Amino acid sequence: MKKQFSRQDYENIAAFIAERTQYRPKIALVLGSGYSDFAEAIADADILPYGQIPGFVRSTVVGHSGQLVIGALDGHEVMIMQGRVHYYEGFSLEEVTLPIRVMRAFGIDTLILSNAAGGLNPAYRPGDLMLIEDQINLVGMVGNNPLMGPNDPALGPRFPGMSALYDRRLRELAIDVAAKLKQTLHRGVYIGLSGPAFETPAEVRFLRLIGGDATGMSTTNEAVVARHSGMRVLGFSGITNVAIDAIDSKRETSHEEVLETGAVLVPRLTAILRGVLARWDEVS
Ligand code: HPA
Repeated sequence: MKKQFSRQDYENIAAFIAERTQYRPKIALVLGSGYSDFAEAIADADILPYGQIPGFVRSTVVGHSGQLVIGALDGHEVMIMQGRVHYYEGFSLEEVTLPIRVMRAFGIDTLILSNAAGGLNPAYRPGDLMLIEDQINLVGMVGNNPLMGPNDPALGPRFPGMSALYDRRLRELAIDVAAKLKQTLHRGVYIGLSGPAFETPAEVRFLRLIGGDATGMSTTNEAVVARHSGMRVLGFSGITNVAIDAIDSKRETSHEEVLETGAVLVPRLTAILRGVLARWDEVS
């Protein structure tokens, strides 16, 4: 399996971005389906559409804008991916995770991931937020891990440990921030699938059985690549729908439902993220 990109490519693309902004953030955020509006809070942003950045591919999915927004939020410099690309769009896992490699080359050391997810845990309701405590990268476990292929040791180890994938101190801070805001923040396991078809009821029951609390079509690959490169990772799932676990249910999951509930979740996710940023010195 030949690699499409090398360390030199990541560095060149990072330099391309650095030439187009004065900001030098160390924190990056990936905004999932329906969360695009969060980036509107960024003052005096430098905006780079993915189509203008070498190597970046553009999302074909409604709800994913496809631009890099670099600026300051409450005095903290941040790099925001407003929209991401997914494996199911036909891109390679290398293309899907290229932005993460580029961020690392740029100097980003902490990655905050967000996604829209289906609730597997029976206690979860649409509109709830879940802190990702751990993940099951189902696509990776069955032979499609984003780290497969030749490994450049300058980027990270051949066999990276993943037992502390989601950073403990960042998780604790997020939990405390949510508690002080009196917001319910579930803690659970996110299962990353390829999609694009939603799950059958039998698959939903299987995902629950293997320990999942929420499931979606993104995040896990980005998290693995970020951790491989030594970044700290924090992740949030917005529960946009309840995964349907019974055949002949009157309900059917839809992308429209995902986007609608995603929009409802934006203010809640925004409050937590701003709360986390406000106390950033506790974790830096
Ligand atoms: N399944 C998979 N991905 C999703 C879902 C779901 O129910 N909701 C949002 N993304």
